[in-house]
Amino acid sequence: MKEVLPEDGVIRKLWIGETAKYREHILRLDPESRRSRFAGGVSDDFVRHYVDLTAGLETVVHGFFVGGMIRGGAELRPLGPHLPDQAEAAISVEKPWQSHGVGSALLRRTLLAARNRGFQHLHMACLAENRRMQQLARKFDAELSFDFESVVGEVAASRPTPMSLMRELMSDHHGFATAMLDLQTRMLRA
Ligand SMILES: CC(C)(COP(=O)(O)OP(=O)(O)OC[C@H]1O[C@@H](n2cnc3c(N)ncnc32)[C@H](O)[C@@H]1OP(=O)(O)O)[C@@H](O)C(=O)NCCC(=O)NCCS
Repeated sequence: MKEVLPEDGVIRKLWIGETAKYREHILRLDPESRRSRFAGGVSDDFVRHYVDLTAGLETVVHGFFVGGMIRGGAELRPLGPHLPDQAEAAISVEKPWQSHGVGSALLRRTLLAARNRGFQHLHMACLAENRRMQQLARKFDAELSFDFESVVGEVAASRPTPMSLMRELMSDHHGFATAMLDLQTRMLRA
């Protein structure tokens, strides 16, 4: 699963201790993107609390890393034991990196993670005027049927298969190897 991402960026799951980088990414979003991301205006304090809460829950977060900084992120947050087949998904990409395929790559990873965890319904808080997110979701019609009235997506064929589990494992492995190479290169430069 080789994706061509801008600036040789890499998408991988966040590691323990990378919450601050993710928080900085969300805080850097321009006002319009932040409003779209949270389906309404939110303060810096709200964002800080929100990210702390995300780190404390069983949320799967994928980050789009460029030069050690997170420029895009996607969350898959289970809705809890009373709704075991449901999760919330949310994506954000910083403006200079938008429209370069990063959102698509992040949603692809999130759908794979959702499938492998047996989630059948994905909720996305998406403003009705957010055409870009709607276009993005439509690209995944085969895997995700979206009802923007109720902002609930249904993940089709959500049963994990050996192949879908293997795809996630391979993505994780590739992300780890790339991050190690990146770290090594930056240490050698320093
Ligand atoms: C929505 C968002 C995640 C999309 O990320 P992205 O990296 O720009 O998405 P992509 O480049 O993969 O583009 C996905 C699709 O969106 C559409 N799109 C891209 N740029 C667009 C633009 N300028 N105007 C309208 N549609 C556009 C296209 O259909 C594109 O698919 P294509 O390139 O195959 O034609 C990003 O714009 C974002 O972070 N917005 C603010 C936060 C937000 O709205 N989050 C969603 C709510 S949870």
